[in-house]
Amino acid sequence: MEYRKLGQTGVDVSAMVLGAWQYGQAYWKGIDDSESVATIHAALDAGINMIDTAVGYGDGYSETIVARAVGNRRGDVLFASKCWGDPTTIPQTIDGCLQRMGTDCIDLYQVHYPSPRYPVCETIGAMAEIQKAGKIRWIGVSNFSLEQMREAVATARIETCQPPFNVFWRQIDDDVLPFCRENDIAVLAYSPLAQGLLAGRFRSVADVPDDIRARSKLLAPDILERCLPTVDRLAQIAAAHGKSLPQAALAWALAVPGITCTIVGARRPSQLQENLGGIGWSLTPEEQEEISEAGLEVSRLLDFSSNMWGWSPAT
Ligand SMILES: NC(=O)c1ccc[n+]([C@@H]2O[C@H](COP(=O)([O-])OP(=O)(O)OC[C@H]3O[C@@H](n4cnc5c(N)ncnc54)[C@H](OP(=O)(O)O)[C@@H]3O)[C@@H](O)[C@H]2O)c1
Repeated sequence: MEYRKLGQTGVDVSAMVLGAWQYGQAYWKGIDDSESVATIHAALDAGINMIDTAVGYGDGYSETIVARAVGNRRGDVLFASKCWGDPTTIPQTIDGCLQRMGTDCIDLYQVHYPSPRYPVCETIGAMAEIQKAGKIRWIGVSNFSLEQMREAVATARIETCQPPFNVFWRQIDDDVLPFCRENDIAVLAYSPLAQGLLAGRFRSVADVPDDIRARSKLLAPDILERCLPTVDRLAQIAAAHGKSLPQAALAWALAVPGITCTIVGARRPSQLQENLGGIGWSLTPEEQEEISEAGLEVSRLLDFSSNMWGWSPAT
């Protein structure tokens, strides 16, 4: 396993973080708890030392499953969870999280989305309070714009930022990513496989499952069609390196300056095992650049006024 610096925490995090959204069951279909637990065990065995969950993943169910699977291996793993941005609810949300996760301190607690109702300084102020009380070690944010990041760092030390980022979703390239590099903030990239598109799963909308992905902007018919030539080219590059498409998609993301790690979702151990092959090798600089440019062309067609699934925290 490769490890990278987690902001200014003095702690190293594995280049691959296990995403636990799926294990919360809500928004996904056919998730089986025993497979979730087996995948978490496989991640720990492989040296993955951070699991990303949230109260929003099945109303805390994902947090419960993660804690159940980790059991007495708590010392091997950093718990990263998330709360909503409403500062008035943060004190009770962290207490529920601590209870569900069976621990007295969450390593990384992230604001899942900025609140549409409260200024960022109030949300981060509430996070700083629970940090002072010893309930969380580090503060992180997710889905924050550059302006919101600036306001957050003016209120407290922010160690991590969790944005959507993959070959096609490049919203952060010109603002949040350089800001995090300059401020020594770790960037934890979510949906690095575009929820399966970059694993070669979807050739047309008919292949898209009737779950959260039916709402994905990347999987809408016109955009999906535009993505396919780049997906195919990346698969060709992967094959030339003796690798698979998802492995190349992860290697591409991990080579982007400022990206600390990829948070990857895996429903079962076999997916996780394959994805681990995305670590420890690189595309050539020419291949990296070619994929980067091709992905940007698609990204320019996307509407970033709401998230990947068209949900806006302002509504
Ligand atoms: N902060 C936020 O707002 C936010 C938003 C989204 C995600 N996240 C975090 O980031 C994590 C990852 O994001 P994500 O789950 O949205 O997207 P992702 O990691 O890009 O995709 C995960 C999905 O891709 C498929 N997959 C994974 N490995 C595969 C393989 N080797 N071969 C074939 N298919 C494979 C699986 O689909 P099937 O289930 O169909 O098998 C899996 O559910 C989440 O679990 C969560 O922790 C955070």
